[in-house]
Amino acid sequence: MTELKPVKIAGIGYSVPETVVTNDDLTKLYETSDEWIYSRTGIKERRLVSGNETAVDLGEKAAKNAIEKSGIDLEDLDMIIAASNAPVEMYSMGCQIQKRLGIKKQIPAFDISAACTGLIYGLDIAKGLISSGMYKNILVVACDNNSKFLDWTDRGTSILFGDGAGAVLVSESDDGIDDIISIDIKSDGNYDHLISLPFDGKNCPLVEPNEVKTSLIKMNGKGVYAFVAKILPKYVEELLQKTGLTSDDIDYLIPHQANIRIIQAVQERLGMPEEKVVTNIKYYGNTSAASIPIALAEGVEKGKVKLPSTAILCGFGAGMTWGGAIVRLREGIC
Ligand code: UT7
Repeated sequence: MTELKPVKIAGIGYSVPETVVTNDDLTKLYETSDEWIYSRTGIKERRLVSGNETAVDLGEKAAKNAIEKSGIDLEDLDMIIAASNAPVEMYSMGCQIQKRLGIKKQIPAFDISAACTGLIYGLDIAKGLISSGMYKNILVVACDNNSKFLDWTDRGTSILFGDGAGAVLVSESDDGIDDIISIDIKSDGNYDHLISLPFDGKNCPLVEPNEVKTSLIKMNGKGVYAFVAKILPKYVEELLQKTGLTSDDIDYLIPHQANIRIIQAVQERLGMPEEKVVTNIKYYGNTSAASIPIALAEGVEKGKVKLPSTAILCGFGAGMTWGGAIVRLREGIC
């Protein structure tokens, strides 16, 4: 059997739009309040794309940051995986990022859709392909403009989401150390009704019915909360145990930023002190697949996450999907 190659997290980056929409601003759209939103979610404001800005612009910036930090030459990049929950273009965000980066080489670029767990799914695929020796340098970029697919009359859903992008450059490790200590992804399609973004399209005009339906995110917030609160804390605890580690071995918990109460439930289950938990949901809301890499990269940038260190990344999303990774964060990655 071929020996598996160790994998390095070589660079990370993020990007968020300039435009800030606060909870108070949302009171212009429907009856709500800063108190209602903040007490149930931990969100005070979110960043939204405006004008012609899209998730591809955000993805490009995040990708460039991650590539620069990695020190890897653009021509040595040999795959792009784009994780998007609310894509600008169904065919394909990965190719658009390739074009924006100015890559002329015909490397594979494609999209995955695992909703808010997209970054962990992308890392899992990248690890498999690098470990097997098939590829050396893979860019995983998560970019979303959820705000374009929200029903801005639905106060139960539109309060939650923001736009943003995060990127991780994963490479074959040159020092024998594997930065992805453990990784796992899961799904259960029986819960697909909890969050959906239907693309119904339109039938041929020669058949009925052939009206166009709008594509907007639909969510059963209470159902999602109940599902995730039941599975995620136990799942993350088991991931640690299976790896032979305890929470004392881990410096940071960097979870998907969907709801502060879900984050706290994971934290409590692991018995981790607050200073080990990285949260920025207050300022960005839920940026779906981008939320983990934004929390990670911004955490390093703001000095909350010290390097070198170890972290648990974990998330969940529509599908339903969920996943976790235990990673080493080297100096200089951000
Ligand atoms: O990656 C996607 C992940 N999604 C999530 O993580 C969602 C998880 N779920 C949640 O975070 C919460 O379920 C929400 C914050 C979305 C909603 O909180 P909730 O406590 O589950 O509220 P609810 O939907 O049960 O609504 C309770 C009440 C309703 O009024 P009635 O029917 O009791 O009179 C809603 O109409 O609150 C009302 N409501 C609001 N009131 C003020 C719903 N949204 C709002 C609002 N402002 N924005």
